[in-house]
Amino acid sequence: MAILFDSTSRLFTLTTAHSMYQMKADRYGVLLHTWFGMKGSAFDYSYRIAYADRGFSGNPYDAGDDRTYSLDALPLEFPAYGSGDYRAAALKVRYPDGTSACDLRYLKHEIREGKYSLPGLPALYDAPDQEQQAHETPAPAGCRCGSRSDTLIITLEDTRRMFYVHLYYGVMEDLDIITRAVCVENHSEDDIYLENIQSVCVDYLHGEYDLHTFYGRHVKERNYQRSPLMHGSQSVGSTRGTSSHQYNPFLILSDRDTTEDTGNCYGFSFLYSGDFLGNAELDQYNQTRLLLGIHPDNFCYCVKPAERFYAPEAALAYSAQGLGRLSRIFHQAYRTHLCRGKWTAKRRPVLLNDWEGVYFDFDGDKLIQMARDAADLGIELFVMDDGWFGKRDLDVSGLGDWTVNEKKLGCTLKELSDQIHGLGLQFGIWFEPEGINEDSDLYREHPDWAFTVPGKQPTRSRLQLLLDFSREDVREYIFSHICQVLDSARIEYLKWDLNRSLADLYSASLPAKRQGEVMHRYVLGLYDMLEKLTQRYPDMLIEGCSGGGGRFDAGMLYYTPQIWCSDDTDAIERLSIQYGTSFGYPVSTMGSHVSHCPNEQTRRITPLNTRATVAMSGTFGYELDVNKMTEDEKTIVKAQIREFKEYYDLIQYGDYYRLTDPDTADAYHGWEFAAEDGSEALLCIVALQIHPNGPGRWMCLKGLNADSIYTVNDEEYPGDVLMNGGLLLPTAAEEYESFRIHIVECPAV
Ligand code: DGJ
Repeated sequence: MAILFDSTSRLFTLTTAHSMYQMKADRYGVLLHTWFGMKGSAFDYSYRIAYADRGFSGNPYDAGDDRTYSLDALPLEFPAYGSGDYRAAALKVRYPDGTSACDLRYLKHEIREGKYSLPGLPALYDAPDQEQQAHETPAPAGCRCGSRSDTLIITLEDTRRMFYVHLYYGVMEDLDIITRAVCVENHSEDDIYLENIQSVCVDYLHGEYDLHTFYGRHVKERNYQRSPLMHGSQSVGSTRGTSSHQYNPFLILSDRDTTEDTGNCYGFSFLYSGDFLGNAELDQYNQTRLLLGIHPDNFCYCVKPAERFYAPEAALAYSAQGLGRLSRIFHQAYRTHLCRGKWTAKRRPVLLNDWEGVYFDFDGDKLIQMARDAADLGIELFVMDDGWFGKRDLDVSGLGDWTVNEKKLGCTLKELSDQIHGLGLQFGIWFEPEGINEDSDLYREHPDWAFTVPGKQPTRSRLQLLLDFSREDVREYIFSHICQVLDSARIEYLKWDLNRSLADLYSASLPAKRQGEVMHRYVLGLYDMLEKLTQRYPDMLIEGCSGGGGRFDAGMLYYTPQIWCSDDTDAIERLSIQYGTSFGYPVSTMGSHVSHCPNEQTRRITPLNTRATVAMSGTFGYELDVNKMTEDEKTIVKAQIREFKEYYDLIQYGDYYRLTDPDTADAYHGWEFAAEDGSEALLCIVALQIHPNGPGRWMCLKGLNADSIYTVNDEEYPGDVLMNGGLLLPTAAEEYESFRIHIVECPAV
């Protein structure tokens, strides 16, 4: 059992393959956080706490005259606002009398076999998905991971005896992951308002840490930033109703000297797609607190008597071998125990999306022409993006009217889909279910279904509004119209897009005092609809998207196993975007396409080979007008697709290694995929700069077997030599040239 409870000391020790997490209900019933890090003896780590009489750090009443016991200085597992701990809190409630001071104490606990799940919310799962295993036998190595998990639920009660706080822990031993979630249960006779509830709090007694975060904007998401924690709070978050392009709900704390391959680091990933806050605080006693949960700004949730509220799950991991290992823990867990359904293990199709090729300017014949060339190239799935429905020849109208524009297509959707299937391709289609244009039949019929605040002009974005997905009637209407379309033709893929941030949150379905629930209910509504969609169409591949990577988070991955990474398809820009994304998410989740040049977003020209090198390190597809390609280009593309299919398992399920940082790399940027058993690797290199008469360039490989011999371009090298001495790289003849170098272990003699 990965969960130990010592009843004498009331000590909880949770262990995974390489990490340990410990808590203790102390003599007052306060739940202390005593350890998160390297796995070791299940010793009581509370010995590290120094108790002292500290001015202006108050003492709980039941500590009597002990002036050395203060919640303000103790490492706490779930600190509540108003308890005498003045650091950022994990919980703030408003009691029926309007007060907020709250003190939580241990009541009981329960240990269960297997991993808990959460009603209506994404959560890592335990049991291998039977259905997924049935589809492809044997599943590639990186797809299999028989995780054995246990659940611990610790119940705290507030000292006024009005509600319970159930702290959920999932201990996923083999995956090296500990999950956390929280449930508040009102057992009083009055309404209780949750004003802030964080899913994670981890207190570090000492240490100097760096905070690693991922910031950005539309078409430039998840840039990597590392900064030392200073006294005070440093936070990232979103109040946009989505996890956002601007900050990602994935954070890392590390020691100052932690590198890709060495040192301690701690990853915190939030399985949630709405507002979030990640906050790190270095306090007066040089202790560090990390909090992650729903952003409190747009949140106030009423829990009625006998009701429960569930705060979303967060996944935590620890690595003693640097950031690379930490990322690989999340890659494995998300690939195998977050993404669900048959697409977890089944090969995903190489697709052609028509968006950057034709935008809104197409008809059925044009699409068929594109599909015909695509089929010749070896592409497997044709995706019709925006513009096929309602009055939608520009992005100013039609959203919400999910009826096929047969006049524009010149045929029915079934006829189009049948023709595309006739060419040997699968067929996919774009939706933006949450969006609505004022110029749409839906808006004219139901203006009250869009988020607008009574008496205030709404904030438009891309000239559109958003539907109130917190309302079941609105969701049902949209769901039934989407199903009508999906049922009218053979459709194997759906792209779920969202092209603005939320604003003007007001739901006609809720009374004034409950308007603070709208943002969270919107996300629950989104999850509810995605769940229904995946249940009804279990074979459909759903790709998430929000103007590219505006909702690239672990919550969405539970429903959509891949997400369009960014609207920026420039290969060089994508290096940084995919590099940043790789810290928390596997390449199998990163939607990535080869587009035409000059690039639409940057006007940059990059070699077609380089565009493929970058797109192959994702779900791989094309997004251009194939009819405009030259014969030479078509020949190259055919070879690229063949090559991707050959390396599919290695890329999608192999271990991913960041070899350089594209923003600081010295001329050549590299990354690598290595088979779990070290039997082969694929080294990807992009020349960011070229210098005539320049120095030689080497790249040290990782993840090989030191004692084996490897073949690289017909030369043989020992594994340790490739990892320590490195591989001498070819000299790039032009800027942005790239190389894909296959390294294969020779059979043992
Ligand atoms: C934004 C997406 O990110 C694009 O790929 C495309 O689908 C457009 N929306 C369509 O409006």
